[in-house]
Amino acid sequence: MRISVTDRCNIRCAYCIGSGANGFLPRSQLLRFEEIVRVARVGAALGIGKLRLTGGEPLLRSDVDQLVSMLVGVPGVTEVDMTTNGTLLECFAPRLKAAGLSRLNISLDSLSPETFRQLTHRDLLGRVLRGIEAAQEAGFRHIKLNAVAIRGISESQIIHLARFAREKQLELRFIEFMPLDNARRWQPELVLEAKQILALVEAELGPLEPVAGAQHGPARQYRYRDGGGTLGVVSAVSNPFCDHCDRLRLTADGKLRNCLFAACGEDLRAVLRAGGSDEQLVDLFQRCVGAKKLARGRDDAHLTPADRPMHKIGG
Ligand code: 5AD
Ligand code: SF4
Repeated sequence: MRISVTDRCNIRCAYCIGSGANGFLPRSQLLRFEEIVRVARVGAALGIGKLRLTGGEPLLRSDVDQLVSMLVGVPGVTEVDMTTNGTLLECFAPRLKAAGLSRLNISLDSLSPETFRQLTHRDLLGRVLRGIEAAQEAGFRHIKLNAVAIRGISESQIIHLARFAREKQLELRFIEFMPLDNARRWQPELVLEAKQILALVEAELGPLEPVAGAQHGPARQYRYRDGGGTLGVVSAVSNPFCDHCDRLRLTADGKLRNCLFAACGEDLRAVLRAGGSDEQLVDLFQRCVGAKKLARGRDDAHLTPADRPMHKIGG
């Protein structure tokens, strides 16, 4: 289960929040940590052991390391991970490690300051790079880099990112641009497909081969034939993987969603705040999981702008 702790972010990725002003949730609508832990306890009793904190940017809730230790202590929770944009990691990494966080995924789409600014509307590449170093120094292993690929922007960055990841022993994953951007600028022509990304990498760094049986969540894994590590691609648009998706998403305002493209979610917060029972929460979990589709909930949903942009769902 992916748990979004805020819909706010300190950067403005073009494929997500974008530069336009946006109505963020008032604090009172966000789940409090105690409420999140209660949901996690009910979920863990149902077998949901792996949790990932997301946002928006989860480190904007500056005591989020407390939430990590609370979740690590829930019976049945086997792993608590986080997806972050890395801009605040330099200061947070040691605290997150101490709190018991297992894994970090860091979003990084570009290694050129200009492209980084163009994509995020902020001049913070240096801080992200220092954040990655701080995470490695704090003892995090298997750090993943998430790079969203957009045609016309990302081509020049792909090789730089692939080289950087090989050098620093980071696990790189390219993600196809999905129609989850606030500005609704997404169009099929802007999707740089997984096979095109792989071809760009192979042309420069030599042949790749699929890693047999390795399906790391939504990413397909490839390895360099020269032994230089692996590379993942998330072909969310060109080859949706709904049939083996086992994700659930808890939004910052307490809705449980069974798909990034779901039209709505089960309102756990209403039950929590009305003094409802654990049994009522279990019912909502079961209804949500039961309604999970083998293929997308709506026809061609992955080619249609979603009702909510990524930062309001929790990527
Ligand atoms: N398409 C693909 N990936 C996206 N992300 C955010 N918006 C999109 C989008 N429209 C990714 C970010 C982040 C993760 C949480 O979701 O790169 O790493
Ligand atoms: Fe912030 Fe992540 Fe959205 Fe970028 S993708 S604007 S880092 S929430």
